[in-house]
Parts: sequence; C-alpha cells; structure tokens
Amino acid sequence: MGRKFFVGGNWKCNGTTEEVKKIVSMLNDAQVPSGDVVDVVVSPPFVFLPLVQSSLRSDFHVAAQNCWVRKGGAFTGEVSAEMLVNLGIPWVIIGHSERRSLLNESSEFIGDKVAYALSQGLKVIACVGETLEQRESGSTLEVVSAQTKAIADKIPSWDNVVLAYEPVWAIGTGKVATPAQAQEVHAELRKWLHNNVSAEVAGSVRIIYGGSVNGANCKELAGQPDLDGFLVGGASLKPEFVDIIKSAM
Ligand code: G3P
Repeated sequence: MGRKFFVGGNWKCNGTTEEVKKIVSMLNDAQVPSGDVVDVVVSPPFVFLPLVQSSLRSDFHVAAQNCWVRKGGAFTGEVSAEMLVNLGIPWVIIGHSERRSLLNESSEFIGDKVAYALSQGLKVIACVGETLEQRESGSTLEVVSAQTKAIADKIPSWDNVVLAYEPVWAIGTGKVATPAQAQEVHAELRKWLHNNVSAEVAGSVRIIYGGSVNGANCKELAGQPDLDGFLVGGASLKPEFVDIIKSAM
C-alpha cells in the first residue's frame, strides 16, 4: 500500500490564546512516530493560525478550517487561499459537514473551493459523509460517491488531496463508526476513485476517517486496510490526541 498515515486535528470553533498555547505545548512535548511514518496536521480557528504556525514543532503542520472559493476581494468575513499561502499555512479543510449543513455549502461549491485552493498551492483535506437519515435509508454509498464526484469533476490532480470520510451521525456524538462500517465506505470510495479517476490515484490517495475518534477506539480503526488515518475533533484538544497519532500503523 505505502500510504503514509495521516492524523488531522480539527479544533473547530474552540480555544482562547492561553488554551491554544497549552495545546501547542502539549503537542511540542509529545513523543510520537517520526514524520516519515505519519503526517500530523492541526487546524485551529483562523484567529490562532499565526500563533500556532509560529510555535508548533516543525514536524507537525497547520491547516485552516476553510477558505474562500476565489481570489480575495469584496467578500466580507471570508479568508482567501492567498492569505493562507501568505501566512505559510500549507493545508486547508474544505467541505466539512458542519459547513455543508449550517452554511448550506453545496457539493458543487465545495468542489470549486477544493479546485481553487489547490490552484493556489494549498493541500486539501476534503470532507464527505452521509447523515443518519441517508444511512438509514441505505443511500450512504450513493451520497459519498456523489460528494466525491463533485470534487473529482473540478480538480486536475489528487496529489495534494486527502479525502476524509466523516459520517455526520458520528461527529460529536460519541457514536463512532464500527471498524467494519468505516472499512466498507473507505473501500467503496477507493473503488470509486479506481473506476472514475485511475488505479494509481485509488492506490495513493489517503482516505481518513472522522467521527468520535478517541484514544480508545483509534487502534482498531487504524487496522482497517483502507483507512489511512483520522480527522479528529473533540479528542484533538486533549492529550489523547497523542495516543491517536501513535496509532499510526
Ligand atoms: O473534522 C473532524 C470532526 O468532524 C470530528 O469530530 O468531535 O466527532 O471527533 P469529533
């Protein structure tokens, strides 16, 4: 397989300057596998990006939690990809389900955002995932395939994309997907990439899981063949995030 493990920490809309400094200090002191084994990317709110970027250990990297869909300008409240590049921020999370639901970001809009972020030299964690209603109606694979297609249709390459499968019903609920549930969808996403993009892309793209990952459930999840890491929310603000990084296979 040869895909390097990837652990992202999505801090969401959380933190104060003092709390952020404590988390960074905890991460800087952590004994973890080397950067040859695992990519670690933490994603603070925009207002803390310079602080984290300037104080985080050099083998960990920083992501923004979003960026605008085109060049900056008269878009009040938005943060452009160019601004992130100017700050030296290498990664950005795009398409998180909370933005899809709370801000009505469509799959097409997300595809355009991924394409623009890539065009500016950013690396992208692109999120897909079904709601509980969609899972219970049996349309999980149809939904996540369509969300992935909306991204694939707009981008020239998957080289700088990590695909994050985050079942909405597992986010923030404590109801983590079982290893079998996660593996099933990851395998189907990889098959979709194989059939619709290329065998090479299917083999090389990292597909990571998010949704109630913690220090107790990460090891079994990490053992699934098509699971290449995690996008962690709540637990990324706690010392157990280090345990999740250590689950790198
Ligand atoms: O982006 C990761 C996030 O959606 C997962 O949140 O708190 O369930 O780990 P959480």
